[in-house]
Amino acid sequence: MCGDKMTVSVQTTAPFEGQRPGTSGLRKKVKLFQQQHYLENFVQSVFDVIGDYRGRTLVVGGDGRYYNREAIQIILRMAAANGFGKVLVGQNGILSTPAASCVIRKQKAYGGLILSASHNPAGPDEDFGIKYNIGNGGPAPEMVTEAIFARTGTIDQYKILAADDIELDQIGSMQLGDMQVEVIDSVTDYAELMESIFDFDAIRKLLADGFNMVFDAMHAVTGPYARVIFEEKLGAAAGTVMNGIAREDFAGGHPDPNLTYAKALVDVMFGDGPGNESPPEFGAASDGDGDRNMILGKRFFVTPSDSLAILAANAQLVPGYSNGIAGVARSMPTSAAVDRVADRLGIDCFETPTGWKFFGNLMDAGKVTLCGEESFGTGSNHVREKDGLWAVLFWLNILAVRNVSVEQVVMEHWALYGRNYYTRHDYEGVDAVKAEQMIQHLQSRFEKLPGNNFGDRLVKVCDDFSYTDPVDQSVSTGQGIRIIFEDGARIIFRLSGTGTEGATVRIYIESFETDLEKQGLDAQAALGDLIKTAATISRLKEFTGRTEPTVIT
Ligand code: G1P
Ligand code: ZN
Repeated sequence: MCGDKMTVSVQTTAPFEGQRPGTSGLRKKVKLFQQQHYLENFVQSVFDVIGDYRGRTLVVGGDGRYYNREAIQIILRMAAANGFGKVLVGQNGILSTPAASCVIRKQKAYGGLILSASHNPAGPDEDFGIKYNIGNGGPAPEMVTEAIFARTGTIDQYKILAADDIELDQIGSMQLGDMQVEVIDSVTDYAELMESIFDFDAIRKLLADGFNMVFDAMHAVTGPYARVIFEEKLGAAAGTVMNGIAREDFAGGHPDPNLTYAKALVDVMFGDGPGNESPPEFGAASDGDGDRNMILGKRFFVTPSDSLAILAANAQLVPGYSNGIAGVARSMPTSAAVDRVADRLGIDCFETPTGWKFFGNLMDAGKVTLCGEESFGTGSNHVREKDGLWAVLFWLNILAVRNVSVEQVVMEHWALYGRNYYTRHDYEGVDAVKAEQMIQHLQSRFEKLPGNNFGDRLVKVCDDFSYTDPVDQSVSTGQGIRIIFEDGARIIFRLSGTGTEGATVRIYIESFETDLEKQGLDAQAALGDLIKTAATISRLKEFTGRTEPTVIT
């Protein structure tokens, strides 16, 4: 299968056009990726800026969405022509994002290319994506993504081997030019890591004793992982994993594990489906590439912010964290529930800008063990990506040890720490100019708002969040507008960095309460006044023409 090395001259196509590089790498419609030289330009730009990898190992895999296989064949031939020593590729091209992070770390690879557009729909008319992760297993830092971006604008040639496609459906090793290609089992390394962290015996016993659970893989990458881990290793009943066959188009769905898009699971867990009067004890879902998670109890939704706080508070019950956790981190818009846990444990709590990359530095420096975001992302220093199945196993481990329901775990947590009522309202597809104007309007009120009352709440601080990384001292500004009230309530405004059409305005609303009787269970009701205040202060309707959010979480 030895092929000739070819150098192909190209005109720069600036594949990032319209999208600044971020930790999510390049995310575009499949049709764009299918253009001649398009993916090649990006991949060569990566190889041109990441340093001296000659003879080293690259990990390659993706969430199995449409165009995954074709993209991998191109990457393999380019890696061979560019001098990598070896590529580790998941069988059939499959690696979930956390599994890719795990393999990069475990096999001491130079880095990895992960093919995914996360929770965005897949198929010929939908999205594809590619990103580069560095040797610590995490997304490339801004310095690297900026360099890749710059390179895509000047590149005039790429190297590729003329060779036949490699068979990816059999585990084993083969040569591609001077490079070795090793097709690895997609699940093994990851499953082993999970077994080293969690008490599988305790979870096995819980399930054997009749505890009922369901996991919704949403026809995406976690299907094969979940079947091995829950059904084969932990002995959960066959059928525990629903929508477990990974499809190239995610069966036409939108694999984002939230109350809107994971409707099939929500129906099961809330007993709304036909013949489903007694829902299981536990339900969970993950997204397209396996890094997000949603946790549900019987007729009960756990907010991701609460989930992070509860994992931190119960970490000592899990073998992998039984010696304690070094510190915790949350993104700024995530509720402050975990701050209260950190306070009680006497450990540091870091507040970072939105996006996973900020956690990596803190973890590499040993400052943080657990971290999370309100957007259904939770993780720890076992890898350098958020990790959906890890979060699910963490919950199962807690439930196995404590032997109480999900709802009880949460209620007891609130009773001890107080409750951070929390919601996020998304306004999708807003006119980008209007959204920007609304943010500018808010900025113009920074000086004027503090000292004013809204209802019975006094505004204490109003600013644009900025963050100085405690490890490398880099400064990130303009990370979201915060209105912080004297009683700890907060309203945050941000424009999404990942939306694909127009602008997505995100409004995050939070209040803190120690008297649980006072506000009742329903977060939307408890936060009603603050939701109105947010609309008033931002002149939401005037700028966006909207009165109701597109998605509420
Ligand atoms: C969203 C989430 C953010 C997450 C990112 C990547 O970004 O809000 O927490 O890190 O996706 O999964 P946003 O669209 O808000 O910029
Ligand atoms: Zn994802």
